[in-house]
Amino acid sequence: MFEAIKGLMGRRVDPFTEWCQQELFTSDMVKAAELLEKTCDLHLFSIYRMLDLENILNEPKTAREVTNELRLVDSADVTVEAVLWRLAHNSDVVELVENADGEDRYVSRGPAPDPSADLALKWAQLSTLGDEYLAARKFVDFGATHFVEALRDDPDLMDRVLSGREPRLAELWDQATNLDPLQDIHGKMGARVILHEFQGGDILEIGGGTGNGIRHVLDTLAEGNALDRVNHYLFTDISTAFVLNTRRAIRKAYPDIKSDWRYLDINKEFASQKIERESADLIYGVNAAHVAKDIVEMLKECHATLRSGGQVIFSERIRLDSRMMAPRELSLNLSIYHRTAAVRNADYRPVHCYLTPANWERVLDMAGFNDVVICPDLDTVGETFPHQYAAVVVAKKA
Ligand SMILES: C[S@@+](CC[C@H](N)C(=O)[O-])C[C@H]1O[C@@H](n2cnc3c(N)ncnc32)[C@H](O)[C@@H]1O
Repeated sequence: MFEAIKGLMGRRVDPFTEWCQQELFTSDMVKAAELLEKTCDLHLFSIYRMLDLENILNEPKTAREVTNELRLVDSADVTVEAVLWRLAHNSDVVELVENADGEDRYVSRGPAPDPSADLALKWAQLSTLGDEYLAARKFVDFGATHFVEALRDDPDLMDRVLSGREPRLAELWDQATNLDPLQDIHGKMGARVILHEFQGGDILEIGGGTGNGIRHVLDTLAEGNALDRVNHYLFTDISTAFVLNTRRAIRKAYPDIKSDWRYLDINKEFASQKIERESADLIYGVNAAHVAKDIVEMLKECHATLRSGGQVIFSERIRLDSRMMAPRELSLNLSIYHRTAAVRNADYRPVHCYLTPANWERVLDMAGFNDVVICPDLDTVGETFPHQYAAVVVAKKA
């Protein structure tokens, strides 16, 4: 599937990359991704103004110093750091000052413009692409409007949203993972790779959550007349509410699929949670693998759980710039769990959450995997879709 073929324009493009470009990455999607990036930068101006960062940063300060001055919760320096880094790289209002002690410091360079009119314009432009894109925008807006509330007054707020414990915001999160086309592509891409790579057996899905992964896998296999390849589907997540809701929906749509629905914490030994060693042929995750605290340990658990010849397939948001905050992280970084969980390593996990393609190659190698493939071809896609962020990471147990 990943072998290079001669592309239509004389360029060498593999079939998966070609499919992404021709079938998936529509011009609306390219526009929407750009509008969201811009929206994120505009929201950062609002935050800069709201927090009076122009004055606070009148001399070079670290993210920790800014956090303390604003009386935000302890780990909020991770969120503040991401905001300042992005402001320093995408605007003129903040500058990153290199320091001899190796600590990043930031200083203000003037006032930020009032972004209100531009934010309204970007909303109008996005809404012309379809209401479903507004799900992404609403999620980013949530981060901007709840920034202080979540980092000072109600620090558990975003963790409740992300684990299904905040019913009034359940729809916001469900739409941000399932309705938003920019997010939905992760499930579509992962399922497409599974259709081509998975010849049959037992599937374990980790961090399956609200069901973007399993829904697309079963739909895609059904369309390819390949549903019978699924001997058994074990769907897991740390949120029992998510597991139960997804079970209800999938059992209705696919009553004949042999399945099991369980709690699994990927930060603990799988075998101690009744997932037997060498019991799976495919371990799948959609934006789930990166939530692991110790990514190498989690991958070693996957390796031990796979049968010989088995594969991990992770459909993941990736970072092209290892420290650049993605627009949706304006909200995600309000979660204590999200911003603090990762055990960092300068070489292969410089920041929390998403990894770069090079990080993925390194950690999979460290966990004992072979034949790592990351698709689509990001350089080729980047020529027409500069803000593209979705990739499928595939690796094999020998
Ligand atoms: C970004 S969501 C992705 C959900 C789903 N795969 C999708 O794409 O719609 C990450 C998922 O990981 C789950 N999660 C968080 N921490 C976890 C852990 N320690 N073990 C297993 N799952 C976890 C969350 O409950 C959430 O459902």
